[in-house]
Amino acid sequence: MRKITINLNGETRYVYVEPNDVLLDVLRDKLGIKSPKSGCERGDCGTCAVLLNGKSVRSCLILAIEVDGQEITTIEGLSKDGLTPLQEAFIENNSFQCGFCAPGITISATELLNKNPHPNKEEIKEAIAGNLCRCTGYESIIEAIEKVAKK
Ligand code: FES
Ligand code: FES
Repeated sequence: MRKITINLNGETRYVYVEPNDVLLDVLRDKLGIKSPKSGCERGDCGTCAVLLNGKSVRSCLILAIEVDGQEITTIEGLSKDGLTPLQEAFIENNSFQCGFCAPGITISATELLNKNPHPNKEEIKEAIAGNLCRCTGYESIIEAIEKVAKK
Protein backbone atom coordinates (compact mmCIF):
# COMPACT_ATOMS: atom_id res chain seq x y z
CA MET A 1 0.00 0.00 0.00
CA ARG A 2 1.18 3.46 -0.79
CA LYS A 3 -0.29 6.80 0.29
CA ILE A 4 -1.01 9.21 -2.54
CA THR A 5 -2.29 12.77 -2.51
CA ILE A 6 -4.76 14.05 -5.08
CA ASN A 7 -6.32 17.45 -5.54
CA LEU A 8 -9.81 16.06 -6.09
CA ASN A 9 -12.47 18.55 -7.10
CA GLY A 10 -10.57 21.35 -5.39
CA GLU A 11 -9.90 19.48 -2.13
CA THR A 12 -6.72 17.75 -1.03
CA ARG A 13 -7.45 14.06 -0.50
CA TYR A 14 -5.16 11.31 0.73
CA VAL A 15 -5.73 7.67 -0.06
CA TYR A 16 -3.84 4.40 0.32
CA VAL A 17 -3.61 2.42 -2.90
CA GLU A 18 -2.09 -0.81 -4.12
CA PRO A 19 0.37 -0.47 -7.03
CA ASN A 20 -2.16 -2.06 -9.39
CA ASP A 21 -5.25 -0.15 -8.26
CA VAL A 22 -7.00 1.53 -11.19
CA LEU A 23 -7.99 5.18 -10.77
CA LEU A 24 -11.64 4.45 -11.61
CA ASP A 25 -11.91 1.94 -8.77
CA VAL A 26 -10.12 4.17 -6.28
CA LEU A 27 -12.40 7.10 -7.11
CA ARG A 28 -15.55 5.02 -6.81
CA ASP A 29 -14.68 2.63 -3.99
CA LYS A 30 -12.26 4.58 -1.80
CA LEU A 31 -13.07 8.23 -2.41
CA GLY A 32 -16.86 8.15 -2.79
CA ILE A 33 -16.85 9.62 -6.29
CA LYS A 34 -19.56 7.78 -8.20
CA SER A 35 -19.97 9.83 -11.38
CA PRO A 36 -17.31 8.02 -13.44
CA LYS A 37 -18.98 4.78 -14.49
CA SER A 38 -17.49 1.39 -15.09
CA GLY A 39 -18.41 0.35 -18.62
CA CYS A 40 -15.95 -1.56 -20.79
CA GLU A 41 -12.94 -1.14 -18.45
CA ARG A 42 -10.60 -1.17 -21.45
CA GLY A 43 -10.70 2.35 -22.84
CA ASP A 44 -13.45 1.91 -25.44
CA CYS A 45 -16.62 3.51 -24.06
CA GLY A 46 -15.55 6.76 -22.37
CA THR A 47 -18.02 6.51 -19.51
CA CYS A 48 -15.22 6.58 -16.92
CA ALA A 49 -13.76 9.89 -18.17
CA VAL A 50 -12.43 12.43 -15.69
CA LEU A 51 -10.34 15.57 -16.12
CA LEU A 52 -6.68 15.06 -15.17
CA ASN A 53 -5.05 18.48 -14.94
CA GLY A 54 -7.85 19.73 -17.21
CA LYS A 55 -7.46 17.02 -19.84
CA SER A 56 -10.02 14.29 -20.37
CA VAL A 57 -8.65 10.82 -19.59
CA ARG A 58 -10.13 7.37 -19.16
CA SER A 59 -9.86 6.53 -15.50
CA CYS A 60 -10.11 2.79 -16.23
CA LEU A 61 -6.78 2.94 -18.02
CA ILE A 62 -4.80 4.86 -15.41
CA LEU A 63 -3.24 3.54 -12.25
CA ALA A 64 -4.06 5.55 -9.16
CA ILE A 65 -0.37 5.88 -8.25
CA GLU A 66 0.17 7.68 -11.57
CA VAL A 67 -1.98 10.61 -10.43
CA ASP A 68 -0.13 11.19 -7.17
CA GLY A 69 0.17 14.95 -6.70
CA GLN A 70 -2.09 15.79 -9.62
CA GLU A 71 -5.47 17.44 -10.08
CA ILE A 72 -8.61 15.42 -10.84
CA THR A 73 -12.00 16.92 -11.64
CA THR A 74 -15.18 14.88 -11.91
CA ILE A 75 -18.83 15.80 -12.37
CA GLU A 76 -19.07 16.26 -8.60
CA GLY A 77 -16.50 19.04 -8.88
CA LEU A 78 -17.94 20.65 -12.00
CA SER A 79 -21.32 21.10 -10.35
CA LYS A 80 -20.08 21.92 -6.86
CA ASP A 81 -21.51 25.44 -7.08
CA GLY A 82 -24.58 24.51 -9.14
CA LEU A 83 -25.14 23.11 -12.59
CA THR A 84 -22.91 24.38 -15.36
CA PRO A 85 -24.51 25.94 -18.48
CA LEU A 86 -23.64 22.71 -20.30
CA GLN A 87 -25.44 20.55 -17.75
CA GLU A 88 -28.45 22.90 -17.88
CA ALA A 89 -28.49 22.62 -21.67
CA PHE A 90 -28.42 18.82 -21.46
CA ILE A 91 -31.42 18.89 -19.12
CA GLU A 92 -33.37 21.44 -21.19
CA ASN A 93 -32.72 19.37 -24.30
CA ASN A 94 -33.60 16.01 -22.69
CA SER A 95 -30.25 14.93 -24.08
CA PHE A 96 -29.94 11.61 -22.28
CA GLN A 97 -32.15 8.58 -21.77
CA CYS A 98 -30.60 6.04 -19.38
CA GLY A 99 -27.84 8.54 -18.57
CA PHE A 100 -25.03 6.01 -18.28
CA CYS A 101 -22.91 7.87 -20.83
CA ALA A 102 -23.75 11.31 -19.42
CA PRO A 103 -20.78 11.79 -17.06
CA GLY A 104 -18.23 10.86 -19.70
CA ILE A 105 -19.85 12.99 -22.38
CA THR A 106 -20.11 15.91 -19.97
CA ILE A 107 -16.39 15.60 -19.20
CA SER A 108 -15.45 15.45 -22.92
CA ALA A 109 -17.69 18.39 -23.82
CA THR A 110 -16.43 20.41 -20.85
CA GLU A 111 -12.85 19.87 -21.95
CA LEU A 112 -13.80 21.00 -25.46
CA LEU A 113 -15.65 24.13 -24.31
CA ASN A 114 -12.82 25.06 -21.95
CA LYS A 115 -10.34 24.92 -24.84
CA ASN A 116 -12.64 26.23 -27.52
CA PRO A 117 -15.78 28.04 -26.26
CA HIS A 118 -17.39 28.23 -29.72
CA PRO A 119 -16.79 24.89 -31.45
CA ASN A 120 -18.60 24.00 -34.67
CA LYS A 121 -20.63 20.83 -35.11
CA GLU A 122 -17.72 18.85 -36.51
CA GLU A 123 -15.51 19.82 -33.59
CA ILE A 124 -18.25 18.78 -31.18
CA LYS A 125 -18.68 15.43 -32.90
CA GLU A 126 -14.95 14.86 -32.80
CA ALA A 127 -14.75 15.75 -29.10
CA ILE A 128 -17.36 13.18 -28.10
CA ALA A 129 -16.39 10.55 -30.67
CA GLY A 130 -14.81 8.42 -27.96
CA ASN A 131 -17.95 8.39 -25.83
CA LEU A 132 -20.41 5.64 -26.65
CA CYS A 133 -24.13 6.23 -26.17
CA ARG A 134 -26.39 3.33 -26.98
CA CYS A 135 -29.68 5.17 -26.39
CA THR A 136 -29.86 8.52 -28.12
CA GLY A 137 -28.28 8.59 -31.56
CA TYR A 138 -26.25 11.60 -30.30
CA GLU A 139 -28.36 14.35 -31.95
CA SER A 140 -29.94 15.57 -28.69
CA ILE A 141 -26.50 15.62 -27.08
CA ILE A 142 -24.81 17.49 -29.92
CA GLU A 143 -27.65 20.04 -30.08
CA ALA A 144 -27.25 20.85 -26.39
CA ILE A 145 -23.50 21.38 -26.76
CA GLU A 146 -24.17 23.57 -29.81
CA LYS A 147 -26.56 25.72 -27.77
CA VAL A 148 -23.81 26.43 -25.25
CA ALA A 149 -21.27 26.97 -28.02
CA LYS A 150 -23.48 29.62 -29.62
CA LYS A 151 -23.89 31.67 -26.43
S1 FES B 1 -14.91 2.05 -18.65
FE1 FES B 1 -13.21 3.26 -19.22
S2 FES B 1 -13.41 3.57 -21.35
FE2 FES B 1 -15.04 2.20 -20.84
S1 FES C 1 -28.30 7.87 -22.67
FE1 FES C 1 -28.08 5.72 -22.39
S2 FES C 1 -26.07 5.33 -23.04
FE2 FES C 1 -26.36 7.40 -23.49
